[in-house]
Amino acid sequence: MRAYDLILKKRNGYELDKAELDYFISGYVDGSIPDYQMAALSMAIYFRGMTEEEALILTEAMINSGDTISLAEIPGIKVDKHSTGGVGDTTTLVLAPLVAAAGAPVAKLSGRGLGHTGGTLDKLESIPGFTVDLTITELIRAVRDVGVAVAGQTGNLVPADKMLYALRDVTATVDSLPLIAGSIMSKKIAAGADALVLDVKSGDGAFLKDLSQARKLARMMVDIGNGAGRETVAIVTAMDQPLGRAVGNALEVEEAILTLRGEGPPDLEDLCLVLGGWMLKLAGKAAEYDEGKVILKKCIENGSALHKFKTLIRSQRGNDKVVENLSLLPRAEERLEVKSECSGYVAGLQAEKIGIAAMTLGAGRITKDSLIDPAVGLTVEKKIGDKVEPGVTLAVLYFKKATGPDLVQHAAELVKAAYNIGNSKVDEPTLILDFIEGDGK
Ligand code: URA
Ligand code: CA
Repeated sequence: MRAYDLILKKRNGYELDKAELDYFISGYVDGSIPDYQMAALSMAIYFRGMTEEEALILTEAMINSGDTISLAEIPGIKVDKHSTGGVGDTTTLVLAPLVAAAGAPVAKLSGRGLGHTGGTLDKLESIPGFTVDLTITELIRAVRDVGVAVAGQTGNLVPADKMLYALRDVTATVDSLPLIAGSIMSKKIAAGADALVLDVKSGDGAFLKDLSQARKLARMMVDIGNGAGRETVAIVTAMDQPLGRAVGNALEVEEAILTLRGEGPPDLEDLCLVLGGWMLKLAGKAAEYDEGKVILKKCIENGSALHKFKTLIRSQRGNDKVVENLSLLPRAEERLEVKSECSGYVAGLQAEKIGIAAMTLGAGRITKDSLIDPAVGLTVEKKIGDKVEPGVTLAVLYFKKATGPDLVQHAAELVKAAYNIGNSKVDEPTLILDFIEGDGK
């Protein structure tokens, strides 16, 4: 087999089979196929696409490039959740304890934030003492003991994705649906989940701005998951504005605690109940997802979800008193209110600009090696559909004294630019756009 012939075959619109994709991916990872040939194949895939079967074969070839984790020692069906990324998306912090409180085991491997999107590990580490450095054995033990654990990636999972993602990033091939689907699903399947709930974001703050593209990606990932024997459903959700109010690490932990107390922002609670309801259905703890939602709502009302978060924090050596006493979380010294200059209704709130503003204040990473500040960030006080008057607070920035006035000013300008205020009344946007299940349902 020659890499050249496979590139030509894909370029001319033909399907690659298992032997061919295995050859290409394993050759790329062992160095016998150079970057320029992988780049050419990626571009051919970008233009020609892949069939459902090819996307599954690609995903399996990527999984086989490294280690895989087995969660078999944890009793029950292990359901994982993946979100394609957003701004102020606090869902994992809420869902991990919430779903565990309803009796489904949650063994979560999470990532760090980059650019305008945040990462669950950074958020949890803003809790004093909390560690995400668990070995797989420790992760499994913690889930067996307390029902839930959240850890950073360990081991050599899907090295093909690390290489390919970096290559796609510099060759204008990131936004190819089969390459995105293969990248996400290979990592989720290698991490050992039996079943998967995918939150596929669409809209301004998502990397797929277009709903039909988001639906297609969701369908492709659901087919790959089910093809690989992992029951998978996808929820297509709107990311036209940040989820909830808080964007920033400690601020989002606080928001998660409020949500687990039943005092959170309604959009964040709604999305957590829908995603969690599906997780319970796939875990066999509810017959239908809306029954799952009812169970979860009860876990919030009777305090068991909040108690589970306390247990999770203690089990990972964090100060669990933060759950009762939010002032134990790191706090920024300074705040600045960004005010409206006109009257009308919030018609748009560009999530990406809000995410960049929070990053500018130090809540996110500009490059992989940037240091973040757990205390800083912002809260959006007005959201799409809200009425505003001149002088009303749109958002509050939280920052450190050491952050220069220029950076704060820049963040405030970004927040102002993120708000689009119009004259006519605007409805609250729909958050849940579609459900995509297996078997073409
Ligand atoms: N997220 C991933 O993990 N991979 C992609 O290709 C795109 C988003
Ligand atoms: Ca939030």
